[in-house]
Amino acid sequence: MCGIVGYIGQKEAQPILLSGLKRLEYRGYDSAGIVTIDEKSKATLLRAKGKVAELEGKALTHTTKDSVGIGHTRWATHGEPSKRNAHPHHVGDIYLVHNGIIENYQDLKHMLTKHDYIFKSDTDSEVLTALIDFLYKDADSLLEAVSGALKMVVGAYGIALFSVQNPDEIIIARKGSPLIVGVAEGEVFIASDASALVGHTDQVIYLHDGEIGVCTREGIQLYDIETQAVEAEVEKLELDLQAIQKEGFDHFLLKEIYEQPKSLRSTLSGRINLKTNSVKLGGLNMTDDELREVRNIMVIGCGTAFYAGMMAGYFIEQFTDDVAVRSEIASELRYRSFHVPDNTVALIVSQSGETADTLACLQELKRRGVKCLGVVNAVGSTIAREVDGGVYVHVGAEISVASTKAFTSQVAAITMFGLMVAQAKGASSKELNTYIKELDLLPGEIESVLENSTGEIKKLAKKYAKYEHALYVGRDTQYPIALEGALKLKEVSYIQAEGYAAGELKHGPIALIDDRFFEVCYLQDNWLYEKSQSNLIEMNARGAHAIVITDTDKRVAAEAVVRVKTKLELLTPLVFNVASQLLAYYIAIARGNDVDQPRNLAKSVTVE
Ligand code: AGP
Repeated sequence: MCGIVGYIGQKEAQPILLSGLKRLEYRGYDSAGIVTIDEKSKATLLRAKGKVAELEGKALTHTTKDSVGIGHTRWATHGEPSKRNAHPHHVGDIYLVHNGIIENYQDLKHMLTKHDYIFKSDTDSEVLTALIDFLYKDADSLLEAVSGALKMVVGAYGIALFSVQNPDEIIIARKGSPLIVGVAEGEVFIASDASALVGHTDQVIYLHDGEIGVCTREGIQLYDIETQAVEAEVEKLELDLQAIQKEGFDHFLLKEIYEQPKSLRSTLSGRINLKTNSVKLGGLNMTDDELREVRNIMVIGCGTAFYAGMMAGYFIEQFTDDVAVRSEIASELRYRSFHVPDNTVALIVSQSGETADTLACLQELKRRGVKCLGVVNAVGSTIAREVDGGVYVHVGAEISVASTKAFTSQVAAITMFGLMVAQAKGASSKELNTYIKELDLLPGEIESVLENSTGEIKKLAKKYAKYEHALYVGRDTQYPIALEGALKLKEVSYIQAEGYAAGELKHGPIALIDDRFFEVCYLQDNWLYEKSQSNLIEMNARGAHAIVITDTDKRVAAEAVVRVKTKLELLTPLVFNVASQLLAYYIAIARGNDVDQPRNLAKSVTVE
């Protein structure tokens, strides 16, 4: 998704803007730009299609000492990736960068064209720039012009802008697209993501929807959309440099796969108690009586977050008697006519806490009066602010576009919520003991997969990287892992991969199996072992190139077998999933892909 940076202070703005954009690269983009302005209102605008490195090259030959500027990485929505469509946009006196979508930009463009505005790009952002310039001509201040423009806009925005008439002021505003301000002595840092502020300051202000900020060297003054002053709440940024550096790993993706034991321990810390065999989640804002009354849990998310909800839903229905769990794809739910039964709690699952479809579902469910709890990683994110309570997964910054450590911790967090409900309903500690014990064991079990299976999987990856199609199959609690494993592969390797319920093979997918495909078959040595084995036999009989991921010692007939030793019985799929993550990573490497910033993808999809 697009990234925004801004700076006003005493230092040279260009290096600050460029390093900030580098920090935001992980979010995915296809062009970038910066503009700085000096005290005589001379602006230096640099834009480039492609990576920030292109921009850095331009800056070498257009270096300025300016101490005010804004920058942007663009993930194309309106208009192809190009320098012409790259931000910052410049119209009249105004330079502007924008995250989000202006839905009524055509009408606004039509009106502005009648006022002799000529547009150079295909973007909605340029129209917003022109609108502010147009209103500024008759306004008493830029703040007033921005307020007037934003009241005419339909859609989502995070913007940063300045006018050449006042080079000592940057104006920002947000509605649906995050903006964070870092404040320090004599300087203000602006970003759409906290990672761009790390190392500059840990005093931050999260803008709320509908707020406008006027940033000067003296600090920031917040206003509401009617330009009434609003109190700014300064918070401490919890992120540190270590969290956003590779620390010796070749890629963030591999670093984050290896971080899972540590990040999972952080998710579990202080929340599971082996002595009392209990779980305690603070922050739910639910009484025991309210937990006891829960009969339905809706788990809502996109992509990996959706699969995490599905995975945990299987576990919760195993240890509760009267709780139905349904996981929902947010982009489907937001437009579907759906019913919410009484005694429902909605879990809003999102690593970034900014995913537009997920946020839209949250807002609809709150409108209906449904209790909404967040399962979020990004502290202070929009979803985290709008839920009624919830659980932070505390995995630290997840930089790689492909989500790994967040998935494992989301499953753990949702499962812990289910255990809280079961406890409130009087489930005996004996019944819950296995899940609590296995949650506690899980970090260590992941450690042993990382230690014992990585080398073998790396070798396998070289062999299977040549395929263009893959089928991931699993039964019961291994089915969500098949879906997630397939997503990981397709995201980073660009191999067309599909996750399927193993029992469904004979209802169609088995027609696909030939030498174009390889298969990943999850074979847990549990009550469904024989059923899963039959599916494997069916596939082998048709010439499958199957990789079996299993915890069994039994003989397994397959082209490749990855044996994952584990003490777990119930949460085993989460250990299998680490093997899938490694397989996806090494296949993508073998195919020479940019594993941390896969093509066309964004870390946080803040537009629908
Ligand atoms: C997962 O690897 C993908 N990057 C994507 O499916 C992601 O899970 C999805 O966009 C949801 O993101 P969120 O958790 O930040 O809401």
